[in-house]
Amino acid sequence: MILPLITVPDPILRQKARPVKKVSKRIKTLAQDMLETMYAADGVGLAAPQVGVSERVIVLDVGQGPLVLINPQIVSKSGQDRDVEGCLSIPERRAYITRAAKVKVTALNLDGKKIELEGEGILARALQHEIEHLDGILFIDHLSKEGDES
Ligand code: NI
Repeated sequence: MILPLITVPDPILRQKARPVKKVSKRIKTLAQDMLETMYAADGVGLAAPQVGVSERVIVLDVGQGPLVLINPQIVSKSGQDRDVEGCLSIPERRAYITRAAKVKVTALNLDGKKIELEGEGILARALQHEIEHLDGILFIDHLSKEGDES
């Protein structure tokens, strides 16, 4: 089911999302709906607060197939990469953002098993962007620090 996308300035986008305690049927359905919503909107990532659910679930597909991560955490970062970014919750806005070039992330998968994955390039960027959503951080928050925008 395609869910309505929440956009700025909805306050749910600024809340710290709560951890998922159990990968229940409800969470599995949420993840499936988030993937459908992301694909319908032509996005490469989506976080649960963007569909109005303040829980720590993200979905991604940067062209390597769908990925669902529950309670994701960045455990290490390296390098620097600067590229253009947008967000389904901030329509029409794009900007260059500097982020780590590589990240290592731990999370639970849909079976409730702990997994670890490494991403670089667009996957690293999408992971950092989506995980920040779970802490109420939006990509535009980086702009004041960097002082430029395009
Ligand atoms: Ni976003």
